[in-house]
Amino acid sequence: MVCSLGFFRALAAQNLEFERFQHTIGVEVWATELAKKYGINTEKAALAALTHDLAKMHSQQEQVRLAKSWNLLTYPEDLENPQVIHGRIAAYLLEQKYNITDQDILNAVKNHTLGRPGMSSLEMLIYSADLTEPSRNFPGVDKLREKLYHDLKEGTLACVEHTIDYLVVTNRTIHPLTLLTYEDLKKSVQN
Ligand SMILES: [Fe+2]
Ligand SMILES: [Fe+2]
Repeated sequence: MVCSLGFFRALAAQNLEFERFQHTIGVEVWATELAKKYGINTEKAALAALTHDLAKMHSQQEQVRLAKSWNLLTYPEDLENPQVIHGRIAAYLLEQKYNITDQDILNAVKNHTLGRPGMSSLEMLIYSADLTEPSRNFPGVDKLREKLYHDLKEGTLACVEHTIDYLVVTNRTIHPLTLLTYEDLKKSVQN
């Protein structure tokens, strides 16, 4: 089965709550615009955007159950904030249920919550577009959008920094993968 963008847009519309669906379309629009600017395949960007939050069709409790049964838990910190596992579940579903074989798309979906060291352009694009799509409205979001439009890697670094700051302020665990992502991007930007 080869699934089209229309198929995944409909799947998102049917399975996600309305606000989550609107967010998903926002990520699609913004990721596609940035993909054009940076010469990234727009179809891959749109597909990853449309599916990145697909696992949110399941309750948090169900996500934890699925992640355990599919062996998707890799860090002890994963369950301290179980919100972080929905990217891995969505990537697993895409590969196993919808026959998506493109590893870059699967990685972009999988890593949109925590990042990883050595992210591809598509992975950076989805990670950043998720945080800065048009319906996001928090202090500093315009600055992040500007940075992203100026330079994808520097913009992504700013997004990771913003996320870490937010976790510190709200007294939450910073997942080790996010710290590794931050260090990796910082080094890469400086070189
Ligand atoms: Fe997400
Ligand atoms: Fe999202």
